[in-house]
Amino acid sequence: MANYKLFCLEKVTSTQDVAREMVANGNAGNNCVVIANAQSAGRGRYNRKWVSHHGNLYASFIYGCDEPDARIAYSVAVAVAETLMSFGISPQIKWPNDVLVDGKKISGILIEYYNDYVIVGVGINIESKPTVPEYKTIKMSEFVEVSVDAVFSKLLYNMKKWRFEKFPLVREHWLKLAIGLNKLVKYRGVQHELVGINDNGALILRRDSKYYLVYGDEISM
Ligand code: BTN
Repeated sequence: MANYKLFCLEKVTSTQDVAREMVANGNAGNNCVVIANAQSAGRGRYNRKWVSHHGNLYASFIYGCDEPDARIAYSVAVAVAETLMSFGISPQIKWPNDVLVDGKKISGILIEYYNDYVIVGVGINIESKPTVPEYKTIKMSEFVEVSVDAVFSKLLYNMKKWRFEKFPLVREHWLKLAIGLNKLVKYRGVQHELVGINDNGALILRRDSKYYLVYGDEISM
């Protein structure tokens, strides 16, 4: 499977935590992937809980990485979006890497750095859609009957493909799927125009005649 080393587990606290422990103990490194059937303490961005019942995909990809790189978020979002498209689902991406269908979240991506590695957590709602206060959710089974294994196999392929693409191509694909491009979005409570993404992966926002570069935050539509 694309030179990955897979660790398939039943129930864990969080695949992110397991991946981190394995890296710390020297039991995992570049191209290792931890996947579990369920998580008791799945985590999202901003310390949010990621409710993780059986039937959905929970995976953490470990890649060697010298320093934080904002561009990783885009290649992972495009890989997840392309995985959904391969099952006939039409996703959109909300900056930086929330993948939505019909405006509802179907996948979440959590990027954490640990020692010389980046641990990329991907959750995809397949059979269940947790109810959360912050946003609406949706699941793949509302569109298609598909197994976790089938989704995971496509994801492994797409993660490898997009990880090694040049950033301008990743950005081009990301922008095609982006929600809110050239429209007004709210950043820290203030309306800005979403202009694009720069070469380093920063979001470019414009307010009046001033341009702002934003890294790893949240915007709302
Ligand atoms: C988000 O949208 O807030 C990110 C959610 C990321 C969830 C995935 S599921 C696999 C991995 N393990 C975790 O505990 N979190 C990530």
